[in-house]
Amino acid sequence: MDIKKAIWDRRSIRKFKKEKIPTSVLYNILDAGVQAPSSCNQQLFYFVLVDDPALKQKLEKEAGFKWIDRIPHPVFVVTDKRFGNEKFSNIQGASAAIENMLLYAYSLGIGSCWIAGYGDKAIVKRLLHIPSYFHILGCVGLGYPDERPIPPIKRSAREITFVNHIPFPEEATNNPEDWTYKDIQSLAARTIFAKSPDIGYYHLFPLELEQQLHFISSKLGKEVLYLEDISGIYLFKLAQMHQRISFTMVSSSKKVVAWMEEKAQHHKIKNISFVYSPDLTLPKKQFDTVLCLDQVNRLPSRQREQIIALAHRSLKKDSTLLLSFLNKRSLYGALFRKGVGRRYGPEISLTYGSLATLLNKQFTITERVGFNLLPSPKLFFKMGVPGRYTVFNPFMRYLARFNLLEGSTNSGFLARFSTTNILVAKK
Ligand SMILES: Cc1cc2nc3c(=O)[nH]c(=O)nc-3n(C[C@H](O)[C@H](O)[C@H](O)COP(=O)(O)O)c2cc1C
Repeated sequence: MDIKKAIWDRRSIRKFKKEKIPTSVLYNILDAGVQAPSSCNQQLFYFVLVDDPALKQKLEKEAGFKWIDRIPHPVFVVTDKRFGNEKFSNIQGASAAIENMLLYAYSLGIGSCWIAGYGDKAIVKRLLHIPSYFHILGCVGLGYPDERPIPPIKRSAREITFVNHIPFPEEATNNPEDWTYKDIQSLAARTIFAKSPDIGYYHLFPLELEQQLHFISSKLGKEVLYLEDISGIYLFKLAQMHQRISFTMVSSSKKVVAWMEEKAQHHKIKNISFVYSPDLTLPKKQFDTVLCLDQVNRLPSRQREQIIALAHRSLKKDSTLLLSFLNKRSLYGALFRKGVGRRYGPEISLTYGSLATLLNKQFTITERVGFNLLPSPKLFFKMGVPGRYTVFNPFMRYLARFNLLEGSTNSGFLARFSTTNILVAKK
């Protein structure tokens, strides 16, 4: 195969046929990895092929590698941590090996996916007997493809190349205020394609999601407007739960709309219509409920105001806006500001006061509900807390083992300290 075709047309595959790849072909692909450049030609990476169904099941159940059962050949790539750390040279070499494997596999008609989301690192290490001086770089899923993903957005070299100097400020922050709205949206649009439509995103706190959906469901009218979704997590679940309600999702990104439409088709969901509206001017229609979920934390203040004004314009009189935000006064909200549990792109936790000031100009807040007083997802606490907070890590890891803390719904005083808040506001 022409190298250009391989580079341009290779896609991450997440749906595979059951059929196994012949062993000799599999080892050919791994050999393509070995041909990659490596620092001083040391080739300090190793492959761990998982082919034992019981082990796969353990990796799924114990380590949380969610979709390993769908991958005919998961290959973990590990590097030696004892050398070449200063410039990550072992990691660079192993990464080059992975890319070689993906391209060569593609040229043979074999699908692949580079996976960093393979679950809990420590548990994977234990299950695969990987020594502590090794670093797991990732897992490469290999198998015959059973999907043809739509090509994701790739930036052009002209967009990301600078000559001699890089013109970014010295101090970079995760605060959306320091970003342009265009850059935030562009990042969101690129990110959404990182999952095939039939896999999608999952919520960091599954119990919280369930409770939020339950709460939101009790407030929905017949015509619901969903503002600027970027993950589909809530929208698709709500649409499936309430098939008689008609949902409209409006987005300022054409690509996001295209991806969502494909996802809705894939899941045979008929009660969502998608509207591309570049400047978020909507069709004249008015709605019974407006949902603005998981959004305001990733907007600069000007767009935050705009989106609330838009919600106001789109609502019928006496109707309801449901707005969720990550609460700065919660444990997670505070740690989030320190960089813990970050997801995609700039985001900050916000205070109730700042949102109430904004909302009170046009709405009356009638209810405030909090979810997750103290979240305990393994993802979050197992990762560990940085800086001076590390002293709490052993304690939090211990609590995380029991899922003691996640999944509380609180109104009144406790809502003030809960991770996510949903505000119910009347027009
Ligand atoms: C370091 C790295 C980690 C990745 N981790 C995951 C993952 O955990 N799960 C997944 O589905 N895809 C993962 N991917 C695949 C990316 O989502 C994918 O490369 C990206 O969306 C672009 O799509 P493409 O590979 O088809 O060009 C990863 C890719 C890289 C390079």
